[in-house]
Amino acid sequence: MKIVVITSSPRSKKKSTSEFLAEKFIEGAESNGHEIFRFDAGHSEINPCRGCDYCGMDGDCAIKDDISKNLTAKLVECDLIVLTTPLYYFGVSAQLKIVIDRFYARTGRISGKKSILIATAWNSDSWTMQALDQYYQTLVRYMRWQNLGAIYAVGCGYRDAVERSKFVDQALKLGKSI
Ligand SMILES: Cc1cc2nc3c(=O)[nH]c(=O)nc-3n(C[C@H](O)[C@H](O)[C@H](O)COP(=O)(O)O)c2cc1C
Repeated sequence: MKIVVITSSPRSKKKSTSEFLAEKFIEGAESNGHEIFRFDAGHSEINPCRGCDYCGMDGDCAIKDDISKNLTAKLVECDLIVLTTPLYYFGVSAQLKIVIDRFYARTGRISGKKSILIATAWNSDSWTMQALDQYYQTLVRYMRWQNLGAIYAVGCGYRDAVERSKFVDQALKLGKSI
């Protein structure tokens, strides 16, 4: 499978908890021979959709940045999209939301793929990931994606916490399972 993994933390690669789990997923998926394209939205030049409709929902985007130059074509040709994010006020990071909004230029062609969500959060209340899960399920429904799984890594606010959590194994196993 061709897999696009989108990370979206603005933290450094050494500190990010969500990138750490994304890397574990990649390790598992690569051990099964899958081809990975990784896009680090938190460390790229990205700009929000302007709603200008230049693309007509199926065309080139008027914005020339790392999304249009490096990511969009990979999204169109891949089989599986893996969204990874830190939980920011109960939703995805602004960086990931920018990427998702930019799907608009190719919505039809990014539809019907497989998807996975990996999210990390500081809190671990039963409702910590509720709003994010609803958002993800709605996105999956609209995009007619096939959800292969979601990892909601609660109680993982900093690197040590995620490294010793059960979610490391979950991310590796999810990568190996596909
Ligand atoms: C702007 C901001 C908003 C956050 N919002 C939440 C939140 O709503 N719930 C929560 O449990 N943690 C929240 N956190 C904590 C992060 O989700 C947590 O530290 C996560 O591990 C960060 O992932 P990263 O290291 O990959 O950036 C927030 C952190 C920041 C900086």
